[in-house]
Amino acid sequence: MRVVICKNPDEVGYCASRQVIESMQRALAQEDRFVLGLPTGSTPLPLYGYLIAAFYAGEIDLSRVHTFNLDEYVGLPPNHPQSYRHFMVQNLFRFVNIPPQQTHMPNGLARDIDHECARYERLVDSMGVDLWVLGIGRNEHIAFNEPGSPRHSTTRKVKLALDTIEANARFFESPDEVPTEALSVGISTVIDHSREIILLATGMSKAQAVAIALLGPVSGWIPASYLREHSDCTFYLDRPAASALQQVREGGGETDLEIVEATWLPGPSL
Ligand code: PGA
Repeated sequence: MRVVICKNPDEVGYCASRQVIESMQRALAQEDRFVLGLPTGSTPLPLYGYLIAAFYAGEIDLSRVHTFNLDEYVGLPPNHPQSYRHFMVQNLFRFVNIPPQQTHMPNGLARDIDHECARYERLVDSMGVDLWVLGIGRNEHIAFNEPGSPRHSTTRKVKLALDTIEANARFFESPDEVPTEALSVGISTVIDHSREIILLATGMSKAQAVAIALLGPVSGWIPASYLREHSDCTFYLDRPAASALQQVREGGGETDLEIVEATWLPGPSL
C-alpha cells in the first residue's frame, strides 16, 4: 500500500492524473482498450481538470477508453443537475473524446433494479477495470459502500448513511431533496476486478477516515480498510488529509505503509 502526500488538492489531482495517464498509455500500447473506474464528488475535480488539459494538449486520446462509474442515485433522471451522469458530463465527458456508449453508469431509474445491478456487475466482470479511482467518505465509505458493507458485496441498491446524506446535502437546496438510496458497485466489484486502485482524499474532514482506513482493523465497518487487501493501491492525500498519519509517523508508530512526498507543485487549477 502506497501513500503519496501532496502539498494541496491541486497536486493530488496532478499526481493522480500522471498515474492514470501512464497506466492508460501503457495499456493502449498493448491492448485495444483501457477501462477506467470513476468517482463523483468534489475531490476528483482537479484530476478531471488535468485529464482534460492532457487531452487538449494532445497528450492523450480517449477514444478507446471505457469508463465505469461507481454509483448513481435512485430516482434521479440522467439530466437532473445532481445526478451523477450529469456530473460526469459536466465535469469530464463533454470535454474529452470518450464515445458516450463507452461511458457506463448504473441506471437509477431502471424498473427492475435487481436486474440492472446484475447487468452492471456482469459488465464490470466481463470487461475488468484497469484502474479504479475512488474517493472516501468521512465515514470511510468507498462508492456508497457504507459501514457494515460486506467484503463480498457486488453492485446493489443501498441506503445512504445519515452522514452521507448530510455531506451530500450541500449540493441540493435542502437535505430533504437528497435521495436516500443509490445503486452502488460493491467492495468486491472494486477490489476483485481491478489491476490498480487509486484513492484521493483532501481536507481535514477526511483525516480521521484516512488514518482509520490505513491503520485501523480491516473490517466491513471501515469499508475503505479493505483496500489494504489489494496488491496495487495508492492513496493520494493532501497534507490536511494525511495529518493523522503524519502524527503516527512522527510518533514512531509502526506501519507497513510506503509513504512518499510528492515533489511536484502545480499551478492553479484549470
Ligand atoms: P467528496 O466525496 O469527494 O465530495 O468528499 C467523496 C465520497 O463521498 O466518496
